[in-house]
Amino acid sequence: MITIAFDGYSSCGKSTMARQLAATIGYTFVDTGAMYRAVTLLALRNGLFSADGKVNEPQLRSLLDKAVITQRSNPQSGQTETFLNGENVEGEIRTMEVSDRVSIVAALPFVRTEMVRQQQAMGQNGGIVMDGRDIGTTVFPNAEMKIFVTATPEVRAQRRYLELKGKGEDVTLEEVLRNLEERDYIDSHREVSPLRQAPDAVVLDNTNLTREEQSAMLLALYKLRSENIGVRSKGSKE
Ligand code: DC
Repeated sequence: MITIAFDGYSSCGKSTMARQLAATIGYTFVDTGAMYRAVTLLALRNGLFSADGKVNEPQLRSLLDKAVITQRSNPQSGQTETFLNGENVEGEIRTMEVSDRVSIVAALPFVRTEMVRQQQAMGQNGGIVMDGRDIGTTVFPNAEMKIFVTATPEVRAQRRYLELKGKGEDVTLEEVLRNLEERDYIDSHREVSPLRQAPDAVVLDNTNLTREEQSAMLLALYKLRSENIGVRSKGSKE
């Protein structure tokens, strides 16, 4: 079993693609963005943001020490759900309130250290598809398969807007686009593990691709990478 890293910009369909691939090949799927969102929710619920948007770091650090963030697949919907201290927070972590603050929380070095530690522990035996921003560069720099997903900001905003509207959120397309561009900027410019394409990642621009086309490309790449590993490990035994 290999390790598969998905990185890329916000709302470019990474999670959907990664989840589908994991289900097809029988691997575990981990949405690391959801982990940073759960930490943000923890900070929001405890009133740790000041009026100017800064986080009370000592208090968040102490809450994070005791917090348990897990993900489980819901057998009915097939969707991955995120739990914070045993409570299902999947709906709450996707709201604009959380989206507006998550990049600030995700830029805190102590938050990243703890999330990366947990992510590496989840994937230590391979057989994992992990989706995020720093998976191919920091969490699993030796992943056998790395995908960097991108699409134009307008296409991404439109997709996210329809998703939020579908959930009944009162947002405009402009707000969604602004939030996406802000997050992309913060995620790419932070000091610790900024969003970067790993040099050995395959770029997948899905602006004009259907889901079926993307799935077929990913499956073909997975087969190629797994065969390479098979050949390599056979060779090393001889
Ligand atoms: O994938 P997403 O939009 O749910 O991610 C939420 C935020 O978390 C995003 O603004 C960037 C951050 N993130 C990160 O810094 N590192 C990761 N591995 C995953 C997400």
